Amino acid sequence: MDAFLPEHKRTIYCGRVRPDHLGQEVVLCGWVHRRRDHGGLVFVDLRDREGLVQVVFSPEASPEAHAGADALRVEYVLSVRGKVRRRPPGTENRTLPTGEVEVAAVSLAILNESKPIPFALEDDTDVAENVRLKYRYLDLRRPSVQQGFRRRALLARSVREYFFENGFLEIETPVLTKSTPEGARDYLVPSRVNPGTFFALPQSPQLFKQILMIAGYDRYAQIVKCFRDEDLRADRQPEFTQIDVEMSFIDREDIFRMMEGLMARAFKDVLGIAVPVPFPRMSYREAMDRFGVDKPDTRFGLQIADYTSLLGDTEFRVFADVAAKGGVIRGLTVPGLGEASRSDLAALEEVAKIGGARGLAWWKVTASGLSSPLAKFFKEERLLALLARSGAKPGDLILMVADEFLTACDSLGRLRLHLGEKCGLIDKSRFDFLWVVDFPLLEWDKEEKRYAAMHHPFTAPLDEDVALLDADPGRVRAKAYDMVLNGSEIGGGSIRIHRQDIQSKMFRLLSIGPEDAKMKFGFLLEALEFGAPPHGGIAFGLDRLAMILSGARSLRDVIAFPKTQKATCLMTDAPSPVDTRQLRELHIRVTVPEKATVPEKK
Ligand code: AMO
Ligand code: AMP
Repeated sequence: MDAFLPEHKRTIYCGRVRPDHLGQEVVLCGWVHRRRDHGGLVFVDLRDREGLVQVVFSPEASPEAHAGADALRVEYVLSVRGKVRRRPPGTENRTLPTGEVEVAAVSLAILNESKPIPFALEDDTDVAENVRLKYRYLDLRRPSVQQGFRRRALLARSVREYFFENGFLEIETPVLTKSTPEGARDYLVPSRVNPGTFFALPQSPQLFKQILMIAGYDRYAQIVKCFRDEDLRADRQPEFTQIDVEMSFIDREDIFRMMEGLMARAFKDVLGIAVPVPFPRMSYREAMDRFGVDKPDTRFGLQIADYTSLLGDTEFRVFADVAAKGGVIRGLTVPGLGEASRSDLAALEEVAKIGGARGLAWWKVTASGLSSPLAKFFKEERLLALLARSGAKPGDLILMVADEFLTACDSLGRLRLHLGEKCGLIDKSRFDFLWVVDFPLLEWDKEEKRYAAMHHPFTAPLDEDVALLDADPGRVRAKAYDMVLNGSEIGGGSIRIHRQDIQSKMFRLLSIGPEDAKMKFGFLLEALEFGAPPHGGIAFGLDRLAMILSGARSLRDVIAFPKTQKATCLMTDAPSPVDTRQLRELHIRVTVPEKATVPEKK
C-alpha cells in the first residue's frame, strides 16, 4: 500500500479525459472498475465520480507499473501517472465519452485494496435492494446513482439562487421542537434535563415560518429536513427534505407566480428544459370527478364519466342501492380492451378493490352493441345513451364502479393509472405541471367522528365560504393549493389564518378544546395577537422533485442514506437498542421485554 504523496494527486478526473489532452501527462485517482489481461498488456477501466477511462499497462512504457498491475483487483484504489494517447484504430468505444483515448501508465500507486465486492457495480443491477442498502457506499459508486445525486445538488443550488435573487432569506428553524400537526405521528426525543418531557422532531417548520412572518421577515425559504413517522411507500420517507417557503402581504396569485418561476428555473438549470408558465389550474372537485384523485396525471386522457342518473334507476340491485343512498356510478372507457379475457377482467377488478370497490362492472363494445352480464337489466334506449356518453367505439371496454363518491373516485383513479401504464398511454417525455386548488377545508374523520383539517389547521377558508363555517363546515373550501407534476404531489401550501379569532374558531371546529389549543399552539395564538401580517406559503418535497428530475422510481434512489419500508437503516442498523444507563439518565423505562435493550457493561 502506498502512502498518499504529492505526486499522487489527481490532475484530471478519469471521466474528463478527451482527445484535447493527447500527448499530455496526467495523474488519475480512482477505482478499478474492470481489469483485463491481454497477454502482455493489462487494461484497467479506472473510474471516478466523473466517469471512467481506459488505462493501459505495458512492459515497454513501464516494466514496474506493468508488474504492479498484476495485483490489481476490482475496486482497488489507485493513483496512476500516464500519457494520454489515441486508441488504436478500431478499438475506440463510441459509447464512452472517453472512448477515443486511453492513458498509457508510466507509474502506479496502489492506495488501497478492496475485498471482493458483494455485487457488480453495473447500472442495470438486479441485486436485491436490501443488499444494496447494507453496502450503500458501494451502491452509491454506481454511475447512474451518482448522476441522480449530481442532479439533486444542481436542483438545491438552483433553488437557493432563485430564492436569494428574489429577496428570500434562508433562516434555520429548530429540529428539537414541539409537535406540528401535518397528519403523521411524531418522532420524539426525550429530554434528560427535564425529566418526563419530550421534544418532537418537526414534521415541517410550519409554525416557525408563520412566526417569522409575524416577526417581519417578509420572505423566507429554507431547504430543511422534516420527520414523519408514517406508513412508508415508494414516494415517502420518514426523514425527507422540504423546500419550505413563506411570504407576507401576498395572495394565492403571488405564490403561484413565484413558484412557477422556481420550477421554470430549476428545470432549466437541471435538465435544460423550458417549462411553460403559467401552469394550468383545476379545482379539487374537478380533479376528483375527471381523474379520481387530487393529484391527476394529465399526461394522458382516460377520464372518468358519470352514469349515476343514467343507470341508477334500474333493477340491477347494486346500482339502484348505491344511487338511492346518494352514491355514484362512474366509469372509464378503455380503448382497444374489448377483447379482455375473464382473467384480465378479474385482474382489473382486483385493482379496483384496492381502492375499496366492492366489484367492477364491465361492458364490451362490439359492432352490434354492448355485451355485458348487466345488459339484461337495461332497456335498449338506456344502453344507447350509455354508449353515447362513454364515447366508446367497437373494440373498447367500459368499466364501472358504483359506490360512495370517494370510494368510486379512488377505485377508478387507481384503475386509470394502472391502465395508463398497461396500455402504454403515458408519454414519459412530458412534464405536466398542474395546480390543484379549492380543496375542502375539512374532512370528516369517520373513526374519530369529528372534522380534521385537510391541509393543516392554519389554512384560511375561501372568503366567499367563511359564512358557511358555522352553518355547513363540511362544504367550506380552503385557500389551499397543491402543485402536481406527472401525477405526483410535489408541493402543497395555503394562505394562512392571520387573525387570532378565526384561528381559535378553527381549533373549535377541529374539536381542539381551548386548553388543548393553548398547550399545543398557545405560542402561535399569542403571536397572532401582536400584529400578524396576512401571509401564506408552500412546501415542496425536494426528494420527490429530485426523483422526477433524475427519472428514478423510488425516493431511495435520490436519498444518500435512505430508510427501508420498515423505517430502518440497513447500513448503520439504526434504530438500535441503547444502554440501560442511557435510558435511566433519560428517565425512560422500556416495556418491550428482553432484547430491546443492551445490558449495561460492568
Ligand atoms: P405537506 O405535508 O403537503 O405540507 O408537505 C409538503 C410536501 O412535502 C413532500 N412530502 C414528503 N416527501 C417525502 N416523504 C414524505 N414522507 C413526505 N411528506 C411530504 C410532498 C409534499 O407535497 N407545512 C406544509 C406546507 C405549507 O403549508 O406551506 C406541509 O408540510 O411533496
Ligand atoms: P353480482 O350481482 O354481485 O354477481 O355482480 C354482478 C357484476 O357486478 C359483477 O361483475 C360484479 O363485479 C359487479 N359489481 C358488484 N358490485 C359492484 C359495484 N359496487 N360497482 C360496480 N360493479 C359491481
